[in-house]
Amino acid sequence: MQSDFSRVLLRREEIGKRVAELAAEIDRDYAGKTPLFVGILKGSVFFFTDLLQQLHIPAQLDFMSVSSYGNGDQTSGRVRIMKDLDRPIEGQHVVIVEDIIDSGTTLSYLKRLLESRNPASVRICTLLDKPDRRRTEVAVDYRGFVIPDEFIVGYGLDYAERYRLEPDIYVLDPHVYGKE
Ligand code: IMP
Ligand code: MG
Repeated sequence: MQSDFSRVLLRREEIGKRVAELAAEIDRDYAGKTPLFVGILKGSVFFFTDLLQQLHIPAQLDFMSVSSYGNGDQTSGRVRIMKDLDRPIEGQHVVIVEDIIDSGTTLSYLKRLLESRNPASVRICTLLDKPDRRRTEVAVDYRGFVIPDEFIVGYGLDYAERYRLEPDIYVLDPHVYGKE
């Protein structure tokens, strides 16, 4: 049987090492502050919990759920808020935690939205960055890995809700989404 994956992109151990480095960076940058970490559901859940467990600074957390992709592999270019934050963020230091930045549509929209609520600051932390696909400029403050323009799954990331629970990150084989 043909595998759904073309290859492993990142092993769990490598991801874990990088997440620890990001946590150390955030610890330094937010020393003396209590930032609010906003996890973008659902793709960032494993990254979010792994990252936050390694922080030493006090922090708060909340979640948003947005939809920009349908069930496919192409962005629709629009962002819909399915779940908003539970509380106002006025005066708070906010860190948006996302799984992957691709076209940039989602994060540029979210950053502007949260900035309009008068927080003290808004920064972006993404595990993965696919710069080749960028259509909207977004300043990424914390970045785990720069990756090539391929569709990837695992460690929270899905294709049509599949493969999220894979512990490693894989390149999805194009035959799965009918391009081969
Ligand atoms: P953007 O708005 O185009 O930057 O897309 C960001 C969202 O698209 C991410 O939060 C993911 O949910 C999804 N996405 C983009 N690329 C991939 C991928 O390679 N695998 C899985 N999801 C992806
Ligand atoms: Mg996402």
